[in-house]
This record gives sequence, C-alpha cells and structure tokens, in this order.
Amino acid sequence: MGKNVLILTASARAGGNSDLMAQAFEEGARQAGHTVRVFRAAQSGIRPCLACDACFSNGKACAVDDNFNELAPLLEQADLLVLAMPLYWYSFPASIKAAIDKLYAFVVGGKELKIKEAVLLICGEIAEERVFEGAVRSYELILEDRGWTDRGQVVVPGVNKKGDILQTDALDRIRALGSSL
Ligand SMILES: Cc1cc2nc3c(=O)[nH]c(=O)nc-3n(C[C@H](O)[C@H](O)[C@H](O)COP(=O)(O)O)c2cc1C
Repeated sequence: MGKNVLILTASARAGGNSDLMAQAFEEGARQAGHTVRVFRAAQSGIRPCLACDACFSNGKACAVDDNFNELAPLLEQADLLVLAMPLYWYSFPASIKAAIDKLYAFVVGGKELKIKEAVLLICGEIAEERVFEGAVRSYELILEDRGWTDRGQVVVPGVNKKGDILQTDALDRIRALGSSL
C-alpha cells in the first residue's frame, strides 16, 4: 500500500544540492506509488521553540503562530519522514532544526504521530565522512526517542557549489532508495 511521505528540505538555495536530493527521493517514491509532500524548511521562517508548553492549547499546534502550523497537519498525515539538508557547522541547519524542535508540540499535546520510519539525506563541502558524525548521531537518537525505524541514510561529502551533487552517483542512490520503500 502507498505510504504518505513527507520530505523536509533545508536548502537555503533554490535548486541547491539538498533540493536535488529531495527531488530525487520524491521521483523514486512517486514511481513506487507513494504520495509525497515537500515542505521547504529553509524558506518557512519557523521560529525557535519557546518551551511555553501552550502547544495545541488554542487549537493550533504552536502558540507562536508561524509556519509550523502549516507543517503540523503534514506531519500528522505522514507515515515516513525524510530529512534532506546541507551540513551547517557539523550539524542541522537552524531552519530545519526549528521545525524538528517543534515536534515537541505533539509530545506536550499528547498527540501520537503516525510516522514510523525516517530517512536522512545530507550533503556538505568537506570531503570526509567523519564531519557528518554529529548530525547522523542526532538523527539516530531522534529516531530512537520516537521509536521510528531508519530506512536509510545517504551522506554526500565533497559537494559545495549548487549542482555539484550532479557529478556524484548520490542522486541515483537516493532515487533507488525512494523507490525501494
Ligand atoms: C552556514 C553554512 C555552514 C556550513 N557548514 C558546513 C560544515 O560544517 N561542513 C561542511 O562540510 N560544509 C558546510 N557548509 C557547506 C554546505 O553544506 C554545502 O555547500 C552544501 O552543498 C550546501 O547545500 P545546498 O546546495 O542545498 O545549499 C556550510 C555552508 C553554509 C552556508
């Protein structure tokens, strides 16, 4: 049966390497018959969690009425969450981290998400796998916390300029991962 796939992408540059990763995954998943929604975290302006614990108290997921309230229904519909991002300072870009932080709303609001699986797609300039260890570990611990299954991680070192990722085999691997769900 087709899954509802939600891709959170954090490319600050339209058509950037992370966007290309998100597109390749979307193509693969659609080919395999899944429904795919994409949320562009870098353009969403989601503000940081204030830990005010007023989540869902006025009907809205977040009391700070920003674009997380557009993302929240997409999260509620999703079976599988894909995080597609560049590495920023050895970690998650602030834009996507702000969205992830607000998963807290579902915990405080006592709302169970349907999400059971996740995928990590991450790229960066430095051509060494080890510089991704912090971000990959954070992803793994979030999955452990939520009880989600890891359906795959694609780490793409050595890509910096827009489109550099086209010179690698990563997009083929990501498309294949998307269609293997
Ligand atoms: C603010 C900022 C911080 C970055 N930090 C890192 C880093 O810690 N390690 C790294 O390998 N690349 C780093 N980069 C490079 C990006 O990860 C790289 O250019 C990536 O391909 C950008 O993806 P995009 O095309 O989706 O924007 C950084 C770029 C920016 C703008």
